[in-house]
Amino acid sequence: MEGDLRRRALAVLERNHRDGYTVPAQGLYPFQWCWDSGPIALGWAAVGRWDTAWTELARLFSAQWASGMVPHIVFWQKDDSYFPGPEVWATGRNPPTTGLTQPPLAVSAAARLFAGDPDRDRALSSFRALWPHLVAWLSWIERARNGPHGASVIVHPWEAGMDNSPSWDQSLSVVPEVGNEHIERRDVATVSADQRPSSREYRQYLGIVEVLRTAGWNTERQPADSPFVVEDPGFTAITARAAADLAAVAAAAGVDGRESARLAESLGAGLHALWDDEMGWYRPYDVLTKSSVGPATSTGLVALWAGVPAARVHRMLARVDSWRSTLPAAIPTSQPDDPSFDPIRYWRGPVWVLVNWLVADGLAREGFTDQASALRTATRTLVAQSFSEYYDPRDGAGIGGQGFSWSAALTLAWLTEA
Ligand code: DGY
Repeated sequence: MEGDLRRRALAVLERNHRDGYTVPAQGLYPFQWCWDSGPIALGWAAVGRWDTAWTELARLFSAQWASGMVPHIVFWQKDDSYFPGPEVWATGRNPPTTGLTQPPLAVSAAARLFAGDPDRDRALSSFRALWPHLVAWLSWIERARNGPHGASVIVHPWEAGMDNSPSWDQSLSVVPEVGNEHIERRDVATVSADQRPSSREYRQYLGIVEVLRTAGWNTERQPADSPFVVEDPGFTAITARAAADLAAVAAAAGVDGRESARLAESLGAGLHALWDDEMGWYRPYDVLTKSSVGPATSTGLVALWAGVPAARVHRMLARVDSWRSTLPAAIPTSQPDDPSFDPIRYWRGPVWVLVNWLVADGLAREGFTDQASALRTATRTLVAQSFSEYYDPRDGAGIGGQGFSWSAALTLAWLTEA
């Protein structure tokens, strides 16, 4: 059974593997996606394909901008099955890329590959080759995405990776929509429209792209250019942990980790400033309206990945447990009793393997080992049915894209024993 699950997971990764990188899902996401690459690399490593794992990250970083930004999609080849493609972004890059970033999970993945690769020469040379890129990305985030609480801002919901989370509803409500004539959605050819963002959200996503494109893709100036600027606990937590992970392996790799340690500290402080004690949750902060926004969602939950004081962990877990009575498949990505909740619509309720992994890993590190292993068992039940993009929290049915790479990769790296 275990062996069969691993074989099926590996088959998904192999099917989605291209020339040096792995697409998140055939058809739906036919290029290299920034935050998917980290967990995908860990999946390759978990089956002993270390060269493939290192190459996955090297390919991503080869598309890094001079500013240090790592773009959220690298369009390695032409493929008309995705919209918005390179011609909409018009960033003038070679290879063509988008002009936004995503949470730097690939940094933590690089540190893990370094720690785990049994070929120490390969580990050292691969990690040291990546090191300047890793540091440059985190420095750019500190420079170009710094918010008023010292947490990281996002300038587009796509930067969070959790595109249509109710966390962004209020901030998005004032964002101009691009005209209908510019929209040619391809996602709904593969996935039912009621499981995807709405057309209005898409017009607003494209509205921000239009503003940033017109402003000339100056990545350092984007928080001033964008009509959407929100301090994001999830993005901040992933960046803080990335910096801490670099600091933890720096000495063994023979590099100077002091900057990373300092950054981990300051971003950790920024993250904790987003704690809403009344709600008992980490909440985004809209920089333009100067207010905390949205219900309890996955982006606040992901704070656990960076480490959260035990009293807060208890409060967050109590809330999540209370959701289990009506929604047995853990963990829904948004607060079920909020009017914005939708059990099948992408980031408005469905369960995601990635979120569960980030939460379980953070819990285990803080000593909540029983809770971490219960979450692992619950997640394993989901992937045993299908390697879906996400799952309906009411019954665990796999929905969204199928043959989804990070669900398969994390099955190999987390949910099954090697
Ligand atoms: C999409 O196309 O839905 C992606 O999430 C954007 O990054």
